[in-house]
Amino acid sequence: MLEQIGERILILSIVMCVGLPIINDFQALFLLDFQETNSYRNGVKMSYVKIFDTTLRDGEQAPGIALNPNQKLEIAHALANLGVDIIEAGFPIASRGDFDCVYQIAREVKGPVICALARTDKKDIERAAEAIRTAKKARIHTFTSASKVHLDFILKMSEQEVLEQTDEMVRYAKSFVDDVEFSAQDCMRADPEFVYQLVRMAIAAGATTVNIPDTTGYGTPIEYGALIKSIFDNVPEAHDITISTHCHDDLGLAVANSLAAVENGARQIECTINGIGERAGNTSLEESVMALYTRKDYYGLELGINTRELYFSSQLVARHTGVEVPPNKAIVGDNAFAHEAGIHQDGVLKNKDTYEIMNAEIVGREAGVLVMGKHSGRNAFRKRLTELGYTDVDDKSLNAFFRQFKDLADLKQRVSDDDIISLVDTETTKIEELYRLEHIQFQSGTGGMTPSALIRLKTPEGIKETTALGSGPVDASFNALKKLSPMPIEVESYDLRAIGSGTDALGEVSIRVKSNNQIVHGQAASTDVVHSSVLAFVDVLNRLAAGIGKNRKAV
Ligand code: KIV
Ligand code: ZN
Repeated sequence: MLEQIGERILILSIVMCVGLPIINDFQALFLLDFQETNSYRNGVKMSYVKIFDTTLRDGEQAPGIALNPNQKLEIAHALANLGVDIIEAGFPIASRGDFDCVYQIAREVKGPVICALARTDKKDIERAAEAIRTAKKARIHTFTSASKVHLDFILKMSEQEVLEQTDEMVRYAKSFVDDVEFSAQDCMRADPEFVYQLVRMAIAAGATTVNIPDTTGYGTPIEYGALIKSIFDNVPEAHDITISTHCHDDLGLAVANSLAAVENGARQIECTINGIGERAGNTSLEESVMALYTRKDYYGLELGINTRELYFSSQLVARHTGVEVPPNKAIVGDNAFAHEAGIHQDGVLKNKDTYEIMNAEIVGREAGVLVMGKHSGRNAFRKRLTELGYTDVDDKSLNAFFRQFKDLADLKQRVSDDDIISLVDTETTKIEELYRLEHIQFQSGTGGMTPSALIRLKTPEGIKETTALGSGPVDASFNALKKLSPMPIEVESYDLRAIGSGTDALGEVSIRVKSNNQIVHGQAASTDVVHSSVLAFVDVLNRLAAGIGKNRKAV
């Protein structure tokens, strides 16, 4: 032992003499040493961090979120596929609906431990125990509070009373399941000595996980990390159970705080998909997971997460909760793997590692994309043209297209593929108005009526008119237009966008069609969406007649 201490002092002196760059290595060395000497605890590898997902409990507490039982079950299955270690499925005493959801998840979802929340109260614990009764692996999570303000205003109890209740209720929970987690809310603003007493009491009563919540998101990473370390220093028995982190994001520090806790020995992170939760939310699962994964060189820790499921889970939760993911959100936001600046795009085209620290595919997304906007460079523009099927563009034409693209990008935030196609096609071909809509009439309604449309069109062969049926007025009109078209037309995509917000907003329709192996786009806007759809189709007919699309290979 003395020899080991001597070695440490020697390493420390070398670090101090040689300077800062070695300090990170020294920390890593220390971390590895810590893990080696604590390799296994109760059969669990100490270099493993458990991911405790509370999307369905704390996440659902976010303002405006109310998931129905089917949505909860679908999310729980997705969490199991993602490989989370524990799913906190709900708070059964809160309502009959909450109880039923936890019960159903416990019965159906296999893999993770299914956990139910309960206050340190007999009725709560009984309800939680009943809800998870059928789970293969079941946990009761019972919680109280630690801070003075909570004791005075919420619990209205003295510290001694809270300690006695903790002892009694952890033991009571333990009479139902072996796996009991204990939490004391607001630890970060509590007297640390009281926190140590609570941790000691909960462990003595049988808790196998003790969670140290920063309920109000008050702590900084150094403070919260120090609190976790001080728990291990002051309560040695904490080394025999799992110390868990639970952080809220009021100051935007939840992920940083959770990681600081892990650096100081916590081995469970409580988190939610997309970081949803009370007020500013909880620690984001995808961010903490990818930090530990991408910086394994630094943390040296293992996870059981299938990272390729992260994006899917994020999209599913966003869809069911109605809480959209901000575009700049790390890992799962629209822009997280998008490069727009010319210098960045150029670098990424030469070697992805220049601006990407992880591949989009690792989190289950498509490879990083080059966003076409006013900062994009010529190389990225040429690459996009090739991807769109314009493989034979000479340098002179490229320069001309690129100039126009830049002008357009000054007017629009993002230039879409359709914009680029339209720009190139319009530039390379003169479009005459050979086809013109003369008249449109359509019928649609409920009660078994089949939608129909009549179209009269000016064509190079004179005025033509026909009728057709369809599943709706747009479909019926397109069927009529297809009959009037001299070439076969297959509509590959149809997009409708409202310009404005009132009921009289313009409906802008963009369609992409395939005809004799050519791809052509058409666009039009009108306050009547059937009218704008028909005009977009007529636009396509004129473009096809002018030979547009011939420059592009179908991709
Ligand atoms: O934030 C918190 O303290 C909680 C507890 C119930 C763990 O959510
Ligand atoms: Zn919480």
